[in-house]
Amino acid sequence: MGKKVITIAFANNKGGSGKTTTCANIGYSLALMGRKVLLIDGDMQMNLTLSFFEEEKVLEFASGERNIYYGVKKQDDLTGYIKKTFCEELDLIPSTILMSGIEYELFTRWQRELILRKCLQEIKSSGEYDYILIDAPPTLGSWVMNILCASDYVVMPVEASPWGLFGVANMFEFLEDVRQINGELALLGIAITKVDARKNYYKQTLEAFRKEENLRVFEQVIRVDSEIEWSQDRSRPVAAHKKSARSAAEYMELAKEIEAYAGRNRKH
Ligand SMILES: Nc1ncnc2c1ncn2[C@@H]1O[C@H](COP(=O)(O)OP(=O)(O)OP(=O)(O)O)[C@@H](O)[C@H]1O
Ligand SMILES: [Mg+2]
Repeated sequence: MGKKVITIAFANNKGGSGKTTTCANIGYSLALMGRKVLLIDGDMQMNLTLSFFEEEKVLEFASGERNIYYGVKKQDDLTGYIKKTFCEELDLIPSTILMSGIEYELFTRWQRELILRKCLQEIKSSGEYDYILIDAPPTLGSWVMNILCASDYVVMPVEASPWGLFGVANMFEFLEDVRQINGELALLGIAITKVDARKNYYKQTLEAFRKEENLRVFEQVIRVDSEIEWSQDRSRPVAAHKKSARSAAEYMELAKEIEAYAGRNRKH
């Protein structure tokens, strides 16, 4: 019997909030914990793909037909689109710049919110993976609706900056809309990223969320760390680039928290 896979979307319509960095590093932390993980790059910027593959390879994926764009366009089983990464426990479905046209592709389709969910059906029932993590683009349209309709949980990274909270209300409203279609979707929690402990913004951001009832803010926050940028430059998660990096330890702790609430050992 296959294991029950848990699908988590990393979403926030605010750009640069740390979605891709968090998706990549939580994925790698879970892999280091021995979990089998599939990452899906849902953004035309291809940043998640670039987090694991060098530019040449990314461009090769992007110009071919085995990327998320063609998979969804053809409403294909995505199993044949999976690429192996340097890490045994971690696979990835790449993106392409063509994702800029995905809204147009979805527009006229029957049950257009559920296409990605159908494309993932085989992978989910194969029992191959413990987790599927999907990196969403900074938009709120049919494609992000697809991502959220294919997910059990959403993790919302929020940047601890003056503009970090901008648009959060829109995101919450959007989640309510998604629940009309995918009633099972739960907001697993807010992950506070890019915290500069010397500044007060961080506290403001935290306080704003902690006032909300029924909203989990993960205990582990992710501080600003230049090693993250170096690791991205080398197409590696931070723990693979520099094991002793502070952010590597922080992402590992956050991954444990995420698994405690969402993981297959969960009690609810
Ligand atoms: N903890 C951190 N320390 C330093 N830099 C960080 C940290 N987290 C993210 N960054 C940097 O911030 C920028 C935005 O991060 P990221 O790409 O993960 O955000 P995003 O939400 O995916 O952006 P987009 O909305 O464009 O997809 C990147 O350049 C990344 O290198
Ligand atoms: Mg991104």
